Amino acid sequence: MAIQITPSLLNADFANLAGEAARIPTADWLHMDVMDNHFVPNLTLGAPVIEALSKAADQPIDAHLMIADPDRWAPQFVEAGAGSVTFHVEAAHAPVRLAREIRAQGARASMALKPATPIEPYADLLPELDMVLVMTVEPGFGGQKFLDLCLPKIRRTRELIERTGGEIWLQVDGGVSVETIERCAEAGADTFVAGSAVFGADDPGAMVETLRGLADAACRH
Ligand code: DX5
Ligand code: ZN
Repeated sequence: MAIQITPSLLNADFANLAGEAARIPTADWLHMDVMDNHFVPNLTLGAPVIEALSKAADQPIDAHLMIADPDRWAPQFVEAGAGSVTFHVEAAHAPVRLAREIRAQGARASMALKPATPIEPYADLLPELDMVLVMTVEPGFGGQKFLDLCLPKIRRTRELIERTGGEIWLQVDGGVSVETIERCAEAGADTFVAGSAVFGADDPGAMVETLRGLADAACRH
């Protein structure tokens, strides 16, 4: 399993996103948190910012849409240059149609689950997806405490992915740090968002590699 570190820029300097991206040159993707103040109680950025950053940064963009009606808005994020677009299944009206549309536009299609949303009802959708995001905090804010109660779901999602036989990435997001990343990797995650752990570190680039090393070692157990 190839480990990928996808730092969230939510707690980075929004006045200097390109400069912040340059501080994490080995990050596999830049995780950009899009919030609309409806699906979550916070408002961040939209497609124009993704477009500007996709031109200014070397890493590809992983857009995490925490918005109502992703069926309507997700295509704009692919057009803006996001290489991966994640919608929340709780907000999507027609997740299969939406995933197919994102793929048809040429991006990776990904589906996110809030902590209380089970994976089992969506098992049959897995072949339509390139990634599943299991949230390990309630979405909306950076810097929250990791929810251990999500670990069994990470395990069950990994089992379903193995049964599907596809190359589907399993991403975790929320409270991922040097304290929690090994638990996530042992449970079967391979793609790790970390916001405050990376941008709160003195050397964000070094922290990306520290997290990668811990996840890598934990999966080899
Ligand atoms: C939370 C966002 C996360 C968040 C991660 O709703 O989806 O991407 O920024 O930040 P940390 O790592 O600080 O929990
Ligand atoms: Zn996120």
